[in-house]
Amino acid sequence: MNDTPADLETAVKARFAALARNPAEEKRFPVGPDSAKRLGYPAAEIDSLAPAATEAFAGVGNPFSLGELRSGQTVLDLGCGAGMDSILAARRVGPTGKVIGLDMVEEMLAKARRNAETAGVSNADFRRGSADGLPVPAQSVDVIITNGVFNLCVDKPKVIAELVRVLRPGGRLQMADILLEPHVTPEELAGKGTWSD
Ligand SMILES: C[S@@+](CC[C@H](N)C(=O)[O-])C[C@H]1O[C@@H](n2cnc3c(N)ncnc32)[C@H](O)[C@@H]1O
Repeated sequence: MNDTPADLETAVKARFAALARNPAEEKRFPVGPDSAKRLGYPAAEIDSLAPAATEAFAGVGNPFSLGELRSGQTVLDLGCGAGMDSILAARRVGPTGKVIGLDMVEEMLAKARRNAETAGVSNADFRRGSADGLPVPAQSVDVIITNGVFNLCVDKPKVIAELVRVLRPGGRLQMADILLEPHVTPEELAGKGTWSD
């Protein structure tokens, strides 16, 4: 029997709550500062952060490589996890800009808030919510960055509609994500193991 969308979301939440609690136990996909460096983040930038800010990094690419952030911009980090990208974005947009870090897992948000405080970042606001119902006003965001999140979202058309809603006219989406390979069967896709393992 296929898992329901609610089952999938529950499994994804449990998966990332566990990663937030114990990143050293992650064995199935690359996490942490070395992974960030392999994905193209400058080593000096990663090394400038406290270990707690990078240990649970679980991104799959480098959304900053897709466009420059400017001072004063408002950035949404969709699925911010433990906040590494949010901190880097907050540094780029400076005190006249702001970052909204959004995640559906409280353990990740708590970690992100602590990491931002340790990094001396005061222009990042971490909010709990789902990508398919963003707690963000319409046309209020200049750039959305997101790293390894869209593949985990159950209702992708709804998420896209939300991203379009919150972006200002001329705003930009900088997405790093993974793609399905052709050999994944519909049965595998329907099972929560594919989403949360
Ligand atoms: C692979 S991790 C990446 C985290 C972070 N972007 C990074 O690069 O370290 C995926 C994150 O997206 C969050 N997430 C997954 N689906 C989500 C959704 N529908 N709404 C909000 N957050 C979601 C998870 O809780 C998790 O923190």
